[in-house]
Amino acid sequence: MAAAQEKPAPNHPQHTVSAFRILKKERLTPVTNRFVLDASWVARAAKPGQFVIVRVQKDGERIPVTIADFDAAKGTVTIVVQEVGRTSKLIGSLMEGQTVLDLVGPLGEPFHARQAKRVIGIGGGFGAAALYPVMRALSQAGLATEAVIGARTREFLVLEQELAQVCSQVMPCTDDGSYGFKGFVTDRLKQRLDELKDLSEVEVVAVGPMPMMRAVTKLTGQYKVATQVSLDPIMVDGTGMCGGCRVTVGGEIKFACVDGPFFDAHQVDFDECVRRNKMYAHEEKLSNAP
Ligand SMILES: Cc1cc2nc3c(=O)[nH]c(=O)nc-3n(C[C@H](O)[C@H](O)[C@H](O)COP(=O)(O)OP(=O)(O)OC[C@H]3O[C@@H](n4cnc5c(N)ncnc54)[C@H](O)[C@@H]3O)c2cc1C
Ligand code: FES
Repeated sequence: MAAAQEKPAPNHPQHTVSAFRILKKERLTPVTNRFVLDASWVARAAKPGQFVIVRVQKDGERIPVTIADFDAAKGTVTIVVQEVGRTSKLIGSLMEGQTVLDLVGPLGEPFHARQAKRVIGIGGGFGAAALYPVMRALSQAGLATEAVIGARTREFLVLEQELAQVCSQVMPCTDDGSYGFKGFVTDRLKQRLDELKDLSEVEVVAVGPMPMMRAVTKLTGQYKVATQVSLDPIMVDGTGMCGGCRVTVGGEIKFACVDGPFFDAHQVDFDECVRRNKMYAHEEKLSNAP
């Protein structure tokens, strides 16, 4: 695991690290914001597919968020946060010039394609943003890249233009047909797999809600196409110590924060992932109560 933390101010213990300033905030959808943060140490060490753990304020919850972009020269890290509960809504309420207290990372293993020549990225919700640095790196490495991104309606689609710069084609899908292909990302992926004659050197990588990743995995299993998914179990410390992010892959116990977040989709025990992600449903409901 590569891990670096913002350099503490001289003579200060690590936990009093100066906060990380929001240099730019952009509303991407009614529930999604993109933030560019001043975080030079993380930016210098970041690799595609890695994530950070963010804590907004003292005594606040720590939540994992993918590094959606990074610029070592400018010392910036970009995150895209979808508001789903208390902490992500708190992050969504922050304005340019304000700060988050901690940003620990980069965490996790970077993404590596497995001997593929063509990679099809599948992004649902914030997943399209998480996919972007991965697809950019693959494209720079000379692989053929394509993306299928999905959302309920057009206004919830993110990063189509950015992905178009690093993919030969981006296939947007909306459940209601308000933009692009009408249907789920799996429907469009199926069409695309049928179009491609030779699937032997194709790999799929999916990032997004668990049901979507599971459906993608089922489909690519039928086509025998290698697939990786970015698992998003509950994370606490992000260092492999607490066991919160335990998943079973190929019958072995793994910790998504240090062994992942990307895993061979066809080896993942999705039933267990779904069960474990519901463990704190009651507490999450309470914390979201007005
Ligand atoms: C490796 C990884 C990368 C992620 N990248 C992004 C990203 O780029 N953008 C983004 O918007 N979201 C991302 N997430 C999901 C994000 O961490 C959760 O949406 C967030 O933690 C929700 O917290 P909350 O307090 O707002 O909501 P809550 O109401 O507390 O929870 C809502 C749901 O979020 C999940 N969740 C809650 N707490 C955690 C936690 N500590 N760790 C993981 N999941 C949790 C649970 O499934 C829960 O049901 C990522 C998760 C992981 C594991
Ligand atoms: S988050 Fe604690 S072990 Fe992974």
